[in-house]
Amino acid sequence: MMKLFVILALLAGQSLADIYLHNPRGSNDRLNEKSAQRANANRLFDSQNNNRGGYNVGDVTSAPHGKDASKQYKMAYFQSEADAETILTVEWYNQHGCGGNEDDNPQKQNCRLVLQYMCQPEGTTEDVLRNGVVTNTQDYNRPPNSNYNLANRNSRKNNNVKADRGLQESWDWYEECFVRERNKGLFTADQNLRGNNGLGYSSAIYTRQNPNGNRRGYECPEERDYFPYWHPTQWKDIAILAENETLCNPLIAESFNNKPYGACLQKFPNSQVRKPSRYNNKEECEENGLDWVAFHNYLEKDKTASTQAACQAKSTNNIEYTWAIPYDSTTFTAECLVKVPSPQCQEAPWSRSNHLGNGIGGEMNTVQWTLPHFPSGQVQNCVMRMRYNISTDDYDPFNTDSEFNGADNSPVTNNPYVDIGVGRGPLRLAINTAQFGRVFQDRTHIFQLKPRPDDIKDFRIFNVNVRGKRGNIVQVYPAVEYDFTPTDLEVTENDLVHFQWTGSNTHNNGRPGGDGQTGDAGEGKSGSDRHNILQMADRNENFPLPFEKTNMWDNAEIKWIYHGKNDVSARDLALNMASSGYYKCVSATDCPAESFKDFLVDTKDKMQVTLDNTPASYPGVVLKFKQGKYHYMCTRNNNFTNRSQKATITVAA
Ligand SMILES: *[C@@H]1O[C@H](CO)[C@@H](O)[C@H](O)[C@H]1NC(C)=O
Ligand SMILES: *[C@@H]1O[C@H](CO)[C@@H](O)[C@H](O)[C@H]1NC(C)=O
Ligand SMILES: *[C@@H]1O[C@H](CO)[C@@H](O)[C@H](O)[C@H]1NC(C)=O
Ligand SMILES: *[C@@H]1O[C@H](CO)[C@@H](O)[C@H](O)[C@H]1NC(C)=O
Repeated sequence: MMKLFVILALLAGQSLADIYLHNPRGSNDRLNEKSAQRANANRLFDSQNNNRGGYNVGDVTSAPHGKDASKQYKMAYFQSEADAETILTVEWYNQHGCGGNEDDNPQKQNCRLVLQYMCQPEGTTEDVLRNGVVTNTQDYNRPPNSNYNLANRNSRKNNNVKADRGLQESWDWYEECFVRERNKGLFTADQNLRGNNGLGYSSAIYTRQNPNGNRRGYECPEERDYFPYWHPTQWKDIAILAENETLCNPLIAESFNNKPYGACLQKFPNSQVRKPSRYNNKEECEENGLDWVAFHNYLEKDKTASTQAACQAKSTNNIEYTWAIPYDSTTFTAECLVKVPSPQCQEAPWSRSNHLGNGIGGEMNTVQWTLPHFPSGQVQNCVMRMRYNISTDDYDPFNTDSEFNGADNSPVTNNPYVDIGVGRGPLRLAINTAQFGRVFQDRTHIFQLKPRPDDIKDFRIFNVNVRGKRGNIVQVYPAVEYDFTPTDLEVTENDLVHFQWTGSNTHNNGRPGGDGQTGDAGEGKSGSDRHNILQMADRNENFPLPFEKTNMWDNAEIKWIYHGKNDVSARDLALNMASSGYYKCVSATDCPAESFKDFLVDTKDKMQVTLDNTPASYPGVVLKFKQGKYHYMCTRNNNFTNRSQKATITVAA
């Protein structure tokens, strides 16, 4: 058996390890807290991140959304078309480094990054994905040891799930996890995993990283810690990044996008409600008289095709349809499913250890996510998650299993001692086997994927957004200060650019501040994020151009704008973007429609100079630019020597 004999990089220790999403912004379990620390680390998922990380849900208006969920802004990106991509730049920091060749840029650990999302059509009435308006975790009462029947399940679910609290995974997902026996083949080191009182066995809510069975939202701890998971889930895989492609390629075939996974399910008598079962493998499932069903992942269901032939006939070069049993089936019969495209396998971009910052070239690490295409044309509400998995060579991460469990067998144990051979006391290593080989996570708030209007169906679309939150660098840490993202975008005259941003009115970064500074240095009203876009001549300057000198708006064709009037003048467009949507037009001569009446310079109260009374979020405009280089800035946040919020779009012929 392997013995520890080298002194390792301090890996365990207190948090500040972590992964943080900056675009789309990660919540790190925050909602709308005015404090620097999140209120509840168990709100929706287990991040294992520092309590200071994360962004608040965006607000639609200049006021906090408070208890009104309709005042929460959901970023809304246009879906890809079957033959025209929408690109969203995903940006993040991961603290322990990842990527790179062992000799040039040695890392101190192995790593893997997994990006996934899940969506639900707008208008869904059960288990509705939501941010919630309070920071409490949803409740859960465990099933009884006897009389586990439908009435009991229904009453517990009704009592537990609260409409005003956030929801991502469903209550039933957690219930299945609570009842399903945990995978006993896994490596648990010397951790003592508890058993569920009363069930008589230990279930999937107990893992090496979660030996006490703590609950966060309705996330299933075993599913959280492992990938690819060996049971059906509602997550769709986007990308798997590893040290090199040799390490992620084998996972592509195992992705639930590409391969069915089985589950041992039954139904409550005389109902279409799934009843969870203990058995996590086919053999035991069938021995106990139940059915092991192979479930498939899908992007959406096509209800118009009711036979296998009709379903398969729908497949095109870009969209594959399959006749199979969906993971959430209650009938356990096949339906017509739109397949999820295969995830990307890529070498992880390099970043160094013990550092939350840029990668090579001083740029943030990114992945270009090609957003999915939903043939139905329905609006989807979605959440994206990113997991960061670090393991060490102190045990073979992929071949160490349950044979090595227990203090006597485990290659690693808690806080071991090393003899330094001089006859005095030994040294103690900081090793916590619950954290030795560890998964961090961040997730977005709810965002939308919208079908494209006809005018923009044929083009590639790039998204331009804003990263960062209010405060100076030490106040916002481990988030970042404001900037546009991507800062340098290169497109062609045949591409479209979708500008959109969101901000909160409660980024006060107040007490408690945890292990960082409180305060929210910045322009305008305390706690408020605001952005706008004005053209500038050169990024070395700090003044925008007066409208008469600009060409960015004259050279742009509006292909879509949130207020619906694509033929507004260049001046009205410039005004709309400079005012973050506060004004739509200069006068009623330009925009006579009734819906513009309250948004005209001529009639509306004056806009406040630092945008305090403008909306915190801007749903945006989709522009097609003529060839050229366009520099732009945010007038409120760009503060020479303190903060630079400037960016460039280069448009090739
Ligand atoms: C993390 O890596 C371990 C191997 O050390 C693997 O067993 C596990 O499935 C991985 N989890 C995720 C979420 O990637
Ligand atoms: C990929 O990384 C692994 C682990 O560091 C290494 O053993 C393997 O040789 C690498 N493969 C390639 C093709 O670089
Ligand atoms: C610029 O930033 C500094 C430091 O955050 C802040 O004190 C100041 O109020 C900002 N605005 C101006 C106009 O200086
Ligand atoms: C920020 O801006 C203010 C006002 O221009 C200036 O006095 C100060 O020196 C700048 N730098 C910092 C770090 O505050």
